[in-house]
Amino acid sequence: MAEDLQSGTAMPLLAIVYFSISGTTEKLAHAVARGADGIADVASCRITGNDIMSGRFQNERFLETIDHADAVAFGSPTYMGGPAAQFKAFADASSDRWSQQRWANKIAAGFTTGACASGDQLHTLSYFTILAAQHGMLWCGLDIPGGEDPGGRNRLGSQLGLATHLVGGSLPQSDVGTAEYLGQRLARMASRNS
Ligand SMILES: Cc1cc2nc3c(=O)[nH]c(=O)nc-3n(C[C@H](O)[C@H](O)[C@H](O)COP(=O)(O)O)c2cc1C
Repeated sequence: MAEDLQSGTAMPLLAIVYFSISGTTEKLAHAVARGADGIADVASCRITGNDIMSGRFQNERFLETIDHADAVAFGSPTYMGGPAAQFKAFADASSDRWSQQRWANKIAAGFTTGACASGDQLHTLSYFTILAAQHGMLWCGLDIPGGEDPGGRNRLGSQLGLATHLVGGSLPQSDVGTAEYLGQRLARMASRNS
């Protein structure tokens, strides 16, 4: 929890840890941050190739940011039916935290994108939930029934987390709205939990 100097109230910290090459996952990460705005402080952690040396994730600052966070959003494009190797390198580097369950009871959520509507994004989200479970975290899914939202959010009907895909080469606005909603929901849960 960080003290909000203006209001004097403490805001939870939301860490958004993601990998993105061509920018779609990054757009989702920014939307998650917008959704949390005013409810949580946000720390954005974009994994890059430079964080990985000799095959190992070595950015201790990101891991320390999560140490202090109340909630974490995991984001990765779906690559070959799972999270990108760069995200997995980050996850593998969290094993020291795992052995002490240092991230236990933080709220976690996930988001992913793919080129296809059913491009095995579910497997990426499932991986995020397993990672969260290994750390003793509490999972935050989407409470939007697919195909039932008047604004078209949760277009692909994924309630485990946010799954998107590119339509005509770009990200539908409804997916951006879903990401904002997920950020808001995660931040609210974090403020209730912290
Ligand atoms: C190596 C590789 C593997 C991919 N595998 C999948 C896949 O399994 N399913 C899918 O729907 N899209 C797949 N894609 C497409 C990406 O998920 C898609 O281009 C995504 O928007 C990339 O995210 P980014 O813009 O955040 O980098 C793959 C792309 C690459 C480069």
